[in-house]
Amino acid sequence: MEEDVRPEVQVMERYGYERSYLISILHEVQKEYQYLPEQALRNVAAGMGISLVDIYGVATFFKAFSLKPKGKHSIVLCMGTACHVRNSRGLLEEARRFLGIEPGDTTDDLLFSLDTVNCLGACALGPIAVIDGEYHGQMTPAKMERLLKKLAKEEGVRK
Ligand code: FES
Repeated sequence: MEEDVRPEVQVMERYGYERSYLISILHEVQKEYQYLPEQALRNVAAGMGISLVDIYGVATFFKAFSLKPKGKHSIVLCMGTACHVRNSRGLLEEARRFLGIEPGDTTDDLLFSLDTVNCLGACALGPIAVIDGEYHGQMTPAKMERLLKKLAKEEGVRK
């Protein structure tokens, strides 16, 4: 028999199709695709014998899951209270202006995703931006613009 090469099938096999591992399975499937495509969720539902509605319930409950394709570069801004009083709104305005997208969205060229979170637990360093998983504290709109310009230039995008 030929091996099923669909990533979600391989992930389910690794976890023995064990329902209690559903969240871990979805995390790994998301890692493969950078998001959770509908067809992959259908395959997981069929493979694990769980209804598609329940799978969507889990996938939409946790903020870590995305049903839309994510950009190559992730820009996450903290909007918690401590960061808010240090002008996280200014960072958000700059990111929106530069990228031309709203929080939760991805640029059409799939290069950048913009998201906001509430408190990353490092308030003393605020306002905080997490760019491609790297924390940047005491951010200013000007620093934000510099970092975004640098990434855009690396990707050959003129901004
Ligand atoms: S409010 Fe931003 S890290 Fe706590």
